[in-house]
Amino acid sequence: MSAPTVTRLVEADWRAFAALRLRALDDTLGTEDRQYREELAFTASQWRRRLRAHTQFALLDGEDLVGLIGAQRQTVETVYLYSLWLEPQVRGRGLGHDLVSAAVDWACTQGARVVTLRVESGNAAARGIYRRLGFDVVAGEPATDDAAHESAPREITMSRSLG
Ligand SMILES: CC(C)(COP(=O)(O)OP(=O)(O)OC[C@H]1O[C@@H](n2cnc3c(N)ncnc32)[C@H](O)[C@@H]1OP(=O)(O)O)[C@@H](O)C(=O)NCCC(=O)NCCS
Repeated sequence: MSAPTVTRLVEADWRAFAALRLRALDDTLGTEDRQYREELAFTASQWRRRLRAHTQFALLDGEDLVGLIGAQRQTVETVYLYSLWLEPQVRGRGLGHDLVSAAVDWACTQGARVVTLRVESGNAAARGIYRRLGFDVVAGEPATDDAAHESAPREITMSRSLG
């Protein structure tokens, strides 16, 4: 069986995108979450609009989509990556790296100078991927002597310059 491949979703893929995105939101936030409920109610034209406004890369395993990352032009110079997610059964195989790498390559082709993202500070697997791809922490990292940070999950911002 061949390895999963990264594919860029187009507007015509909106049904598969909607199902995948809702799977990811359910898995990470749960069905009671406000964002899940909001997107569950999206119409076809809202899903299509999302695919026009933001670039989405998915991981294709045979006939199944099993991973997703969104990339959004934030400013003329900056691309923002969001919602990296893999189905639990395909985690731990380095596939998250392939998705982020495809999104960074796309940002390069768009002439962006910086790629930025946010990640929970305790998410070691995601941070491992970003670090390996050249991202550095630029905001949100607590000082080492700040004992209060240990218990509270916090988001950090990482970024990488291109070119
Ligand atoms: C985060 C996620 C995308 C990681 O994808 P993955 O392909 O399964 O990642 P891997 O398990 O292959 O690990 C990636 C790297 O982190 C390292 N890593 C994994 N778990 C680790 C841990 N607990 N401590 C330290 N390093 C760890 C791996 O060794 C690997 O490093 P390498 O590339 O140098 O070998 C996936 O776990 C996921 O979808 N999680 C739920 C959603 C999520 O957290 N998204 C991130 C939002 S920013």
